[in-house]
Amino acid sequence: MIQRLLPPTVAAAVATADAPDTGPLPEEAAALTSACGERRRREFRTTRLCARAAMVKLGVPPAGVPSGPKGEPRWPAGLTGSMTHCDGYRAAAVSRTDDVHAVAIDAERHAPLTAELARHVTVAAEREHLAELAGDHPGVHWETVLFSAKETVYKAFNPLTGRWLGFRDARLSLDPATHTFRARLLQPGPVVEGVGIDEFTGRWAVEEGLVLTAIALPVTAGVTAGRRVLQAV
Ligand SMILES: CC(C)(COP(=O)(O)OP(=O)(O)OC[C@H]1O[C@@H](n2cnc3c(N)ncnc32)[C@H](O)[C@@H]1OP(=O)(O)O)[C@@H](O)C(=O)NCCC(=O)NCCS
Repeated sequence: MIQRLLPPTVAAAVATADAPDTGPLPEEAAALTSACGERRRREFRTTRLCARAAMVKLGVPPAGVPSGPKGEPRWPAGLTGSMTHCDGYRAAAVSRTDDVHAVAIDAERHAPLTAELARHVTVAAEREHLAELAGDHPGVHWETVLFSAKETVYKAFNPLTGRWLGFRDARLSLDPATHTFRARLLQPGPVVEGVGIDEFTGRWAVEEGLVLTAIALPVTAGVTAGRRVLQAV
């Protein structure tokens, strides 16, 4: 499913059940401290198996994906990618850095957010947008789509900039007709190919009880109105 949201230069692999415990690769082991429970170990392991399956699809040797100090994945030289896990779903997407500057994916169960979380991750204008969407298209938990899209924005933004981006540091809009989203950055964005990015676009889907969101920034990104936009292809 997630593959449909990504350009063909990105390879994705998905698992809906966890693999038997073969232990992490030595270079990945540091991310799993003794404080990590069995559930965390399972999701970590299976998601990395997805990453290696995606590397094989891409035609590159499968390799370990250690974590950086803030939990960010450290991809092998020449590759970039993203990983996500939620109940019953693990996925990884990997691409060559010759093809994309950044790829980001996120999966959430398609269920309502608590009122407290929904408020925490949105501003008033976004809540009005969500109310309109809910009026026109009932049956979709729009606040969860927006939440997932924001996490995808962070997973694209942070590796490119090394900086934090809070939930209120971008304004999201969701298009129900095209299944795309747009995130206007309220913090300075990454500079890619010499051009500052002030907006990301991505794709979303609600399928089989899941919300899926994805962003990919091709190396030859398009220039829109004098600014470069992260564009889902
Ligand atoms: C990091 C974060 C986005 C992860 O999202 P999540 O829904 O909690 O969890 P997911 O299962 O989808 O993703 C977890 C994976 O994200 C990846 N990840 C973690 N930090 C990351 C970072 N800084 N950059 C890119 N990917 C990151 C890791 O691969 C992690 O899996 P792993 O620990 O097994 O390797 C989230 O925990 C977070 O910190 N959000 C706050 C920042 C934010 O979303 N801002 C909104 C800006 S508009």
